[in-house]
Amino acid sequence: MDLDIKGRSALVLGGSKGMGFSTAEALAREGAQVAIVARNETALNASALAIGATPIVADLSNRAQVLACIEKTQSTIGNPDILVVNTGGPKPATFAETSPDGWREAADHLFHFTIEVLTAFLEPMQKRGWGRVILITSTAAVEPIPTLLYSNVLRAGLHGLVNSLSAEVAQHGITVNAVMPGLIATDRMKSLGLNLGDMEERIPAKRLGKPEEMADLVSFLCSNRAAYITGQAIACDGGLVRKI
Ligand SMILES: NC(=O)c1ccc[n+]([C@@H]2O[C@H](COP(=O)([O-])OP(=O)(O)OC[C@H]3O[C@@H](n4cnc5c(N)ncnc54)[C@H](OP(=O)(O)O)[C@@H]3O)[C@@H](O)[C@H]2O)c1
Repeated sequence: MDLDIKGRSALVLGGSKGMGFSTAEALAREGAQVAIVARNETALNASALAIGATPIVADLSNRAQVLACIEKTQSTIGNPDILVVNTGGPKPATFAETSPDGWREAADHLFHFTIEVLTAFLEPMQKRGWGRVILITSTAAVEPIPTLLYSNVLRAGLHGLVNSLSAEVAQHGITVNAVMPGLIATDRMKSLGLNLGDMEERIPAKRLGKPEEMADLVSFLCSNRAAYITGQAIACDGGLVRKI
């Protein structure tokens, strides 16, 4: 299927590895002009080179670096038509293991940069009359995971943002959606030290997802074909989360 995004510009945050990288790769393959953002410059440059993307080094939990990243995006690929909001996940914690400073740090890591990039890039999308915004969140937003308190709470907040914002900007040809990975085989997943055999047994599909499977969903939502899908939170989880 032709996604009809050839020549569109796309910014993929957290784009050097995992689902972000697979998404950037899929968008580049469709002919979009892609920029990817991450902290580790060496890994970022290698990933950018592999798919012909522009690398932008930034720590998205640091406001000054987020603002510099916005400027660098504008001076390289321009104001993006497509914005994929993604980073690494926050630290695992039960409520007893959280702290006020931990909450502030987690909000910097997941929430505040999202607002900064939306503030910078939504208005140009509105002027252009076309835009796609995808937030990579987690099924934790709809089915909380006991050891991932920061993720449960802040991602539910991001879903509230998707819901409210999508209604405000739909008339301008902009869609805003969240995609919820279930258990996807990435470095992040391996770093959590979980028993993957047990996890696979719990998934109706009996296997972890592949980053490319998430990328297929995200790139479809970024496409011209998905113009009438907005304000949704869509899982890619092999049937893990059960809700009507
Ligand atoms: N994998 C899963 O099963 C799963 C399930 C539910 C939710 N999620 C969520 O989905 C998101 C992506 O997960 P993933 O598994 O694809 O992760 P990943 O493989 O660890 O990739 C994360 C990407 O984000 C970049 N990044 C991390 N922190 C950053 C920061 N502060 N500033 C800029 N870039 C940053 C990383 O590069 P650098 O480290 O070089 O910065 C990398 O490019 C995460 O938020 C995760 O919590 C994942």
